[in-house]
Amino acid sequence: MRMYDIILKKRQGLELSTEEINFFIRGYTAGEIPDYQAAALLMAIFFQGLNFRETADLTVAMAGSGDQVDLSGIPGCKVDKHSTGGVGDKTTLVLAPLVAAAGVPVAKMSGRGLGHTGGTVDKLESIPGFKVNLSPDDFIRQVREIGVAIVAQTGNLVPADKKLYALRDVTATVDSIPLIASSVMSKKIAAGADAIVLDVKTGNGAFMRSVEDASALARTMVAIGRLAGKKVVALISDMEQPLGFAAGNALEVREAIETLSGRGPSDLRELCLLLGSHMLVLAGVTSRVEDGIKLLTGLLERGHALAKFREMVQAQGGDPRVVDEPDRLPEALQKEQVAAQENGFVEAIHAEMIGRAAMLLGAGRKTREDTIDPAVGVVVHKKVGDRVGRGDALATLHINSRENLALVRQLVAGAFHLSTVAPPARELVYSVIG
Ligand code: URA
Repeated sequence: MRMYDIILKKRQGLELSTEEINFFIRGYTAGEIPDYQAAALLMAIFFQGLNFRETADLTVAMAGSGDQVDLSGIPGCKVDKHSTGGVGDKTTLVLAPLVAAAGVPVAKMSGRGLGHTGGTVDKLESIPGFKVNLSPDDFIRQVREIGVAIVAQTGNLVPADKKLYALRDVTATVDSIPLIASSVMSKKIAAGADAIVLDVKTGNGAFMRSVEDASALARTMVAIGRLAGKKVVALISDMEQPLGFAAGNALEVREAIETLSGRGPSDLRELCLLLGSHMLVLAGVTSRVEDGIKLLTGLLERGHALAKFREMVQAQGGDPRVVDEPDRLPEALQKEQVAAQENGFVEAIHAEMIGRAAMLLGAGRKTREDTIDPAVGVVVHKKVGDRVGRGDALATLHINSRENLALVRQLVAGAFHLSTVAPPARELVYSVIG
C-alpha cells in the first residue's frame, strides 16, 4: 500500500477501504508517513468528504492509536460530556461537580485551549495548587471516593488526534464534519465513559457556522457513538455570542463558582441545567429531562454542587478557599473599559473576536508552546438584546501586558454590533439529537 495512492483515490472522490484508513492512521502515528502527505490527504478529505463508513473507520482507527482508559473500576454509569468548543464555555467546571452531586460519577478528561477557544484544564490551573496531571490510579480512586475528577488527557490518549489536530490547525482543515466527528468521538471512545452528552456549538464563535452543519455533525457523532456501544445525545447550542460574560481562565472560574452558588449568568446556568439533565437521563437517574432540571436546580440552590466543587479542588491539591473567597484567584494588574460609541441595542457580539482578544491579552495560546496568563481576559457587560447608551461600558479588559492592547481594544469594540431596534430574542439550544 502506498500513501500516494490513498491521497489520489480520495482526491478523485473515491471511497477509502478500512485497510487504507488503518494504514494511514498507523503510519502517521508511528511517524512513517510525513506531514506533507497527511496534509494532502486531509485537504482531499476536506473537499471530497468521507461517507459514514469511512468516518466510523477513521474514528475507530484513531481511538485505537494509543491508550484506552478503563473506568470499569468505578461503579455506576459513567457519563462524559464534550463541547465542540466556544468562547466563554466554562460549562464543564459547573457540570462535573453538579452532576456528581446528583450521584452520577464524572471521570472527565479535558483539553487545553488553542486559538480563540479556551480549555477546561487551563481554567482549572488558575486555581492555586490545582493539579490536572493525576496518575490513572489516582484519577480512578478520586472518582470512586468523591464522585468527580477533571484531569488533562494522558500523554498517549489518541496520539493520532494530537498529531492530526495540530496539522489541521495549520492547514485550514479544521472545519470539516468527518474530521471533527472522528477527532471528538475517538477521544470520547478512548476515554471509556458509558454515555456521552455532546454540546455542538453553532454560530460565529464555533467551527460550525450554521445550524444545518452543526446538526449534520451532531448526527454523525451520535451514530458513531452508538456504533461503539455508547449512549449518546447531542444538543445544538448557540455560539453567536460568548457564553456567560467572562472569557479568560481565572475570570471563568470565578463565573463558574457564581453559577455553582445558584447565581451566575442566565445563559450559562440554563445550558448547564439542560446538559446536566440529559446526563442524568442517560445515567438512568431520571427518566425525563424536566425532572433532571428540577433535581439539579435544587442541588445548586442548596449548595451541594458548590460543596462538590470544593471537594474536588481540595482533592486535586487546589486551594479550596478560592471557592468561598474568589478574590484569592489571580487578578490582572490593570482594568480598562471599552465604551459604546452610540445608543442602541446589542444585535450581535462576535464571539470569535472576543475570544481572539482574550487570547492576545495572554489568556490563550497562538501555538502549543505559548504559556498563558491565568489572570487576564475580557468580561462583557452587555449581551444580545440589551439596551446600551453612548458611553456605557460594553466590556472590561483585564490586562497584565500592554503588548497587543491597541488590537485588543479594536477587536472588542468591533465585536459589538448595535442596532436601533431591539433584535429578536436568541435561542440558546436549537435542537436535541439522539
Ligand atoms: N474539538 C475536537 O476535539 N476536535 C475537533 O476537530 C474540533 C473540536
